[in-house]
Amino acid sequence: MIPLKRRKITRTESNQDETCTFSHVSIFILERKMGASRRAFLKRLARSKGFLIKEKYSSAVTHVVSENNSGDDVQAWLDNQSGGDTSTSLQLLDISWFTESMEAGRPVTVQDKHRLKVNPKPNGDAKVFTMKSYACQRRTPLKHQNVFLTEALEILAENAEFSKNEGRSVAFTRAASVLKALPHRVYSMDELKCLPCLGEHSQRVIKEILEDGTSREVESTRQSEQFQAMKALTGIFGVGVRTADRWLREGLRSPSDLIQTGQPLNRAQQAGVQYYNDLQKPVTKAEAEVISDIVQEAVHAVLLGAEIQLMGGFKRGKDVGHDVDFLITHPEEGKEEGLIAKIINWLEEKGLLLYQQTSRNSYLEKMDGPARPRSNMDRFEKCFSIFKLQRSAESTGSEAERSVNQSETSSWRAVRVDLVVSPYSQFAFATLGWTGSKLFERELRRWAGQEKHMSLSSHALYDSNQKCYLRAQTEEEIFAYLGLEFIPPCERNA
Ligand code: CTP
Ligand code: MN
Ligand code: MN
Repeated sequence: MIPLKRRKITRTESNQDETCTFSHVSIFILERKMGASRRAFLKRLARSKGFLIKEKYSSAVTHVVSENNSGDDVQAWLDNQSGGDTSTSLQLLDISWFTESMEAGRPVTVQDKHRLKVNPKPNGDAKVFTMKSYACQRRTPLKHQNVFLTEALEILAENAEFSKNEGRSVAFTRAASVLKALPHRVYSMDELKCLPCLGEHSQRVIKEILEDGTSREVESTRQSEQFQAMKALTGIFGVGVRTADRWLREGLRSPSDLIQTGQPLNRAQQAGVQYYNDLQKPVTKAEAEVISDIVQEAVHAVLLGAEIQLMGGFKRGKDVGHDVDFLITHPEEGKEEGLIAKIINWLEEKGLLLYQQTSRNSYLEKMDGPARPRSNMDRFEKCFSIFKLQRSAESTGSEAERSVNQSETSSWRAVRVDLVVSPYSQFAFATLGWTGSKLFERELRRWAGQEKHMSLSSHALYDSNQKCYLRAQTEEEIFAYLGLEFIPPCERNA
């Protein structure tokens, strides 16, 4: 005998098909982004007005109603349900059609304003895409169509980094990077079959987002107090995961907690706390250009004939960055020695520096040897600094705006700047090493070691087969030594 409860439900459902007033309209309400309780409420409301509401999606459904979803999202969900075989007469509708129908007490005529817009898929053949497994073998543009997935995977990567689980962090970063290299938006798990670096965990997260619009694990991570505190604390210049984690365990959550409890801070961290708000604000391309001009002037004032290159994210075509990176050299090797100190003096005399920490060049090929360095940090003469950048008239905003935002009232802002000096003979390697992205660099070194039995750093390339250093004057030569196709900086956004 069927238990009472189940019998009751079965009856209401099967009866509905026969008893509803508008049997030509068979509605399915999508739970995605709506939630179970609102969906249940809408179902009850519609049924009470004689509408036919389907519990499950099937080919019998004529109208799919959703709330806060784009047409592409709904189509992706449908493709997942039906293996990409949905009827062309199926109506994908916004909740507005449903609400109007409820008010009218009958299904209102579907108009364009009710329809969700579905963009045509790039082309049927591109659905299954194969891809090389090292990020340095692929072209990764800055803009791609899978931000809704990569952003989620990167939250998990960041969280793993906060837990000092590097392997896990790199795995999520690699998975995100694969999706960045795809030339189209992902609609279904089928399209991912032939892709590398997508581990079981990453796939689970992707599947959940494709089906439900969000991943519970990602959202609970994002909201967690621990994640937010680690993000705030590691966001302070001079603070790494280790220190942030110690502070977290002592109950500290934010830069202001550090001030209030009088934590002992080193010089970098003091500057980090002092300029926290400014350093949190992204540096714009326009600001990077102003700083470029200043650095050019400084370098040429102290060493004629020096060459300066903008590096990092801006070289890869980014519109904003967390800092501005420069690489400096001189064609006559030896002339560059001690250059940083001179540049810093010039900048300090002009009152352009808020903070600087300089390190000397400590790389010696003979001493360092070809062994892969323990840390990936290079040993160039360099300076991690904070510039005092005068704001232009436009960027300080109107009087009204200025009175709203306190930190905008100042006539200057703090900007992180990295200056690196390379001997001319290492310049190609330094250029490759300071262009990024971080994952691209990591993958280049992994490729060199695992696939070519070579050791790559920002100083040199050592070939363990031939037991010799390979000299290069251009990045193209280094890619060629490594047996890789040359990837231009704008496609290294792995
Ligand atoms: N780098 C390095 N050694 C460091 C710091 C950075 O070799 N001590 C390299 C990184 O590998 C990266 C480049 O310098 O390739 C730029 O690093 P960074 O400024 O941290 O990142 P960007 O890619 O420029 O990103 P953003 O725009 O946020 O600054
Ligand atoms: Mn940078
Ligand atoms: Mn940098």
